Amino acid sequence: MTDLTQPNLPGGLPDKRQVAASFSRAAPSYDSVAELQRAVGAQLLAQVPQALQPRCWVDLGSGTGHFSRQLRQRYPQGLGVAVDIAEGMLQHARAQGGAHYHVAGDAERLPLRDASAGLIFSSLAVQWCADFAAVLSEARRVLQPGGVLAFASLCVGTLAELRDSWQAVDGRVHVNRFRHLDEYQRLCSASGLQVLGLQVRPHVLHYPDVRSLTHELKALGAHNLNPGRPAGLTGRARLEGMLQAYERLRQPQGLPATYQVVYALLHKPLAPGD
Ligand SMILES: C[S@@+](CC[C@H](N)C(=O)[O-])C[C@H]1O[C@@H](n2cnc3c(N)ncnc32)[C@H](O)[C@@H]1O
Repeated sequence: MTDLTQPNLPGGLPDKRQVAASFSRAAPSYDSVAELQRAVGAQLLAQVPQALQPRCWVDLGSGTGHFSRQLRQRYPQGLGVAVDIAEGMLQHARAQGGAHYHVAGDAERLPLRDASAGLIFSSLAVQWCADFAAVLSEARRVLQPGGVLAFASLCVGTLAELRDSWQAVDGRVHVNRFRHLDEYQRLCSASGLQVLGLQVRPHVLHYPDVRSLTHELKALGAHNLNPGRPAGLTGRARLEGMLQAYERLRQPQGLPATYQVVYALLHKPLAPGD
């Protein structure tokens, strides 16, 4: 993935084909390791105003469709559209029900009509989008006046333990980079949507060893996709150095891995006279 903290870095956009292929490959294993994703999506869903009754809802970056199924239960009268860039994820989700339509598409260029949705729900997907202003502009276009965008994403500080442990042995890009919280705040404020809430909450998971963490990232499809990532195998001495550096962070519950989760709720104002 491109360095999202510096939007104008040479190297351009993240290779979306790689992101799509990685998540498509991960579709069969994703649900078995998605503990954090379940917790985050549930917290996000709890923040969606109870009074909202969308005639059409969108699960953006729907993955295996866990939250599409929850949205269908919550809005039995509504029409549900799951959008994901990874065809493999959509196939998996389609087989389990949930959304009425499963559409391959990019959050930066939504294949949906103007003012067609009352709710866009997006949990842990838009951190993969280099052009977050485009995501917000598309959400604004697709939402009906009065509609809500609820998203959860990741910001700087996520997987800091893994990143710092690698930094102790080399300066290469071993961990996906994330946008700063300030950048989320700035872009949301400038989006033309009204920001009803935006907070960051840390979630800390624990692992018996580093291998369990890296295997989990791979099973989720969320391992390092940076263009600057080291090619091929990492040298044994450097790997050992990283493992030793991470061991110094060990807590009674195991090795910590922090996710800094941004939760945001935005509203498209009603047009005058509505
Ligand atoms: C970590 S999974 C989250 C899936 C689901 N929302 C959940 O909470 O279980 C991220 C999903 O976002 C999708 N994704 C990544 N970049 C995307 C983009 N630009 N547009 C649409 N979906 C994207 C991936 O294919 C993947 O299915």
